[in-house]
Amino acid sequence: MTKVLYITAHPHDDTQSYSMAVGKAFIDNYKEANPNDEIVNVDLFKENIPQIDIDIFSGWGKLQSGKGFEELSSDEKAKVSRLSELCEQFISADKYVFVTPLWNFSFPPVLKAYIDSVSVAGKTFKYTEQGPVGLLTDKKALHIQARGGIYSEGPAAQMEMGHRYLNIIMQFYGVPSFEGLFIEGHAAMPDKAQEIKENAIARAKDLAHTF
Ligand SMILES: Cc1cc2nc3c(=O)[nH]c(=O)nc-3n(C[C@H](O)[C@H](O)[C@H](O)COP(=O)(O)O)c2cc1C
Repeated sequence: MTKVLYITAHPHDDTQSYSMAVGKAFIDNYKEANPNDEIVNVDLFKENIPQIDIDIFSGWGKLQSGKGFEELSSDEKAKVSRLSELCEQFISADKYVFVTPLWNFSFPPVLKAYIDSVSVAGKTFKYTEQGPVGLLTDKKALHIQARGGIYSEGPAAQMEMGHRYLNIIMQFYGVPSFEGLFIEGHAAMPDKAQEIKENAIARAKDLAHTF
């Protein structure tokens, strides 16, 4: 059975957020088109996503030096095991849908913490003599991103670092297909905001049948 991780990095729901509204249109239509797929929502603002901190470094250090898991402190145990749980869930999926707003030219920081938790050598990539090689070569991914200005073309294109960063991470993991669906320009052109949103929802519905 195909497993889809619907990874949302937004504190708001679809009633207040463009990216979440388009994400909902996509995933609702995807479910209709693929009723047998398993869809798992990873709501990064609600889930426990540990940041790599002193407990994680000391926990990893103890394990690397040959100590048993039971010798870790309770904080080390909780954080180290949560990171590996997130990583195992990530690699068990076939498709990824990321939904984010553009905040200060990137995505919300909790998504970076999530990427740190799943970027594990031997799981999502491996080291070889030729350098790192991605291990997720049979997956596909989509990024739905709302951004107030225009970044798909023009002078601001180089300033966008959320989608471009995710693109590099997907390449690093070896994911062969990564698409972007952008809702953009509604803050710069408020009179066109509704039209921009409706167009993006229509594209999301179409994409849901081919993704
Ligand atoms: C904290 C914050 C930072 C933002 N930074 C940018 C930015 O760098 N560039 C931009 O075009 N819009 C920026 N915006 C506007 C959002 O990208 C825009 O409102 C978008 O619709 C957010 O997605 P959402 O509708 O899903 O919340 C920012 C908004 C917030 C709240």
